[in-house]
Amino acid sequence: MKILMVCLGNICRSPLAEGILRSKVEKTGLDWVIDSAGTLGRNEGCAPHKFSQKIAKQFDLDISQQKCRYFTKEDMKNFDKIYVMDDENYLDVKRISGNYFDSGKVDLILNELYPGEDRIIPDPWYGGEDGFHKVYEILDKACDAIIRKYAPTMHSI
Ligand code: 4NP
Repeated sequence: MKILMVCLGNICRSPLAEGILRSKVEKTGLDWVIDSAGTLGRNEGCAPHKFSQKIAKQFDLDISQQKCRYFTKEDMKNFDKIYVMDDENYLDVKRISGNYFDSGKVDLILNELYPGEDRIIPDPWYGGEDGFHKVYEILDKACDAIIRKYAPTMHSI
């Protein structure tokens, strides 16, 4: 499985999603590739937001070495599953992917936790630290749901 987490900036939400899922994948011994990207491309090469790093650290997760990158249409070919955080991310991924767009690969990440409800993870970029805690909590549950779905025999999470 190759899974890509996508948000707007690749600064706040998707770096956390990448770090959380990778940690669970490593703990369960799965041979999955996890990455993240943003549709904005403004922060290329930047580390995750300081509050994303801070909340991750509180859960023993070091995401400080992650580097922001732009989502490309090649990602649509290279990954098996692409999770977006909100509707805007979905439309951006569709636009950037052009002819490569594969609707079967792309979904709102919260549809793994609340199937069919099309819930979104709001962008914490404009708010305070508390928003990042809420993002972490919901992503943690969503990542558990992803592992339960694609690796149902793994019981160590
Ligand atoms: P993210 O939040 O999509 O969760 O990474 C944002 C980060 C940066 C910007 C927007 C949203 N920005 O405008 O630079």
